[in-house]
Amino acid sequence: MRDRLVSAFRSAYARDPEVIARAPGRIEFIGNHTDYNGGPVLGAAIDRGVWVGLARRDDGVRRFVTEAHPRPTMLAAASAERMTGADAWINYPLGVLIALREAGAGTPAGFELAVVSDVPTGAGLSSSAAIELASGLAFLEAAGQVLDRETLVSVCRRAENQFVGVPCGILDQGVSGFGRRGHLVHIDCRALRFGTVELPAGFDFWIFNTHTKHALIDGLYAERHRECMEAARVIGVPLLVEATPAMLAAAETRLSRPAYKRARHVIDEIARVEQAVAALRAADGPAVGKLLFASHRSSRTWFENSSRELDFLVDALESERGILGARLTGGGFGGAAMALASAEFSAESVQRVSDAYLGTFGSRPDVMRARTDDGASLVKGSS
Ligand code: GLA
Repeated sequence: MRDRLVSAFRSAYARDPEVIARAPGRIEFIGNHTDYNGGPVLGAAIDRGVWVGLARRDDGVRRFVTEAHPRPTMLAAASAERMTGADAWINYPLGVLIALREAGAGTPAGFELAVVSDVPTGAGLSSSAAIELASGLAFLEAAGQVLDRETLVSVCRRAENQFVGVPCGILDQGVSGFGRRGHLVHIDCRALRFGTVELPAGFDFWIFNTHTKHALIDGLYAERHRECMEAARVIGVPLLVEATPAMLAAAETRLSRPAYKRARHVIDEIARVEQAVAALRAADGPAVGKLLFASHRSSRTWFENSSRELDFLVDALESERGILGARLTGGGFGGAAMALASAEFSAESVQRVSDAYLGTFGSRPDVMRARTDDGASLVKGSS
């Protein structure tokens, strides 16, 4: 990937990058839509990532290029306009640049930037958070600045909330920033505390990308966000993390049906994340797996963010040997399902699931094996 990045950089700008940074994609392990409700979540940085190369310019001009769109887009010194169409991806690095400045960090005035990635986009693996983290590190390094990791992930989230306009929680940026090989990242999203929990040896992940995406996905995410906040208000708590099942039951008749269902999912899911942490610490793979299936059922029934394709995959995986658990991963409404598997889950098992999917939906899912990896970092020896 480093060579790919340097060669993309050279062909766009006819020089080498001064700084290189990389940040991983992530899976959401368990904790579906718990983050912006102040709850805990478990995720894993994966061995697919986004690489950003950068070199400074003195004239304030900023140029951006990706492998997919190899002709650089140029932004004049003062421009902070939101980009659209094929240039929309620029909003991630640009949003981070603006958010870093707002946070008082120094950033390079002008620069040339190139991005290469092997995180599939639109699969719910957070290629966007990975671009944010990698560009954030590159901007800071080029300006000779250091920022603690907690602040950096919060700045990247702010870029996504305010500049890109998605009301996401801290999961994606937190996992890409705090990933650790062999571990899951455990985030307390209210206290903004980031820790890790070991993934017992012998397990890894399989990701099944359905290539489907609900047409109204952004609006649906925002709608779920609003319904959760409405439920918290009616129950009388600032965020659903403070609500108990008894408080929810007492408020049921005062809640709209959607708000009740969303809160039911979030409150139960928060409990499942803590149970999963305990089961992981006890290296109890089967118990962890049951929680993953339960999480998926709850998304399907209460949060209503699954899809026929995702349900099909999770059901098909449930009957395969070597699968401990499976669920949708990320925001939902399409995207990918992930499975926690032992080595018993073989290439033939993948084929069987893929064939069955083809028989029902007329196309195959993209299947990818993923291992845990370290979080965002600068890549030394860039120039
Ligand atoms: C998306 C968001 C995250 C989180 C998940 C659902 O990935 O970016 O912040 O809310 O959905 O858990």
